[in-house]
Amino acid sequence: MIFAKKIFFQLALFALRFLPPEFSSYISLNSIKILISLGIKLNESKILSPSESMKIEVEGLKFDHYLGLSAGIDKEGKYFHSLSALGFSFVEVGTFTPKAQLGNDYPRIKRLQKNKSLINRLGFNNPGILRGMENIVSNKNNFSGILGISIGKNKDTSLENAYLDYNFCMHECFNQADYIAINISSPNTKDLRKLTSPEYIKDLSKEISSTRKELNRKFNKVVPIFLKLSPDEKDENIQDIVDATLSNGFDGYIVANTTQGEFEGICGGISGELLKQKSSEMLRKVSNLVGDDATLISSGGISSKRDVEERLNNGASLIQIYTSFVYKGPFVVEELLN
Ligand SMILES: Cc1cc2nc3c(=O)[nH]c(=O)nc-3n(C[C@H](O)[C@H](O)[C@H](O)COP(=O)(O)O)c2cc1C
Repeated sequence: MIFAKKIFFQLALFALRFLPPEFSSYISLNSIKILISLGIKLNESKILSPSESMKIEVEGLKFDHYLGLSAGIDKEGKYFHSLSALGFSFVEVGTFTPKAQLGNDYPRIKRLQKNKSLINRLGFNNPGILRGMENIVSNKNNFSGILGISIGKNKDTSLENAYLDYNFCMHECFNQADYIAINISSPNTKDLRKLTSPEYIKDLSKEISSTRKELNRKFNKVVPIFLKLSPDEKDENIQDIVDATLSNGFDGYIVANTTQGEFEGICGGISGELLKQKSSEMLRKVSNLVGDDATLISSGGISSKRDVEERLNNGASLIQIYTSFVYKGPFVVEELLN
């Protein structure tokens, strides 16, 4: 039966390659949602009920195992419950901004098939944090994993006022989030990455920290805050970012987002195999700097058990994937966990 499912999925993935990437993603996410709601299991039961020895506790959160799904696949909060039923122990939804955004013009995603990579210039297309939260609340009853919520700033918010967008999003999502990911590393919102410069990072971290304290008290709940880093960050800047965020109580880092580049006429963020080396080097650098003082979640070009082991050996507690899920489908979960 599992063999028949694998053949079916290989054929489906092959056919989806011929559709425009965003349409193919829409079809895939909705098909998964329908199959899961019909009670059809897409992965082996041993992955769906992992052993006690795989369970880990990170920042007070209990994960069934180390493998989760990166931000950007469920940008609306409509699919995370179905995606977790494929065997992911955590799903990061978003990135959400205060106001809804359509994102950049098409074409904005391209498959780099030969390199098992993607390039995207989406630009935080999302329904806005308020609608996102409505979606999350209506799907959360069917979800038992760990929910990360990724937040960003609207493209028309100035860098000086960016903290207001992060504060607003924190207020709106705090009660639903198991952790919050601060995204200041997308290459597709003009100047967003400047928020990591010394000019902004100290004040932004301070604002986020004081909002977090206020919300901790209001909801009587502790929510870890992770900063998502760019793999293109200059070495001399990484130390400043770590100092500013750790001294303001950030709990860890997601290492890393897509790398900025240009491919086949699209200027945007590259993910998948072409990101692997950069992301792995960045993890080693950040791990050397923070030691045991922060949690590290590794993201970027992870597509095999060997990649997983390398990242876990280099300081990561948790692993996230995006592009290998697109290329390999739901069975990548078994491959990376077995
Ligand atoms: C099409 C696409 C959209 C993405 N959107 C987001 C996003 O909204 N927020 C975010 O933090 N990361 C986003 N990412 C980055 C991924 O979460 C991930 O960090 C990156 O792709 C590297 O992992 P991978 O090589 O496994 O894909 C996106 C990536 C892709 C390919």
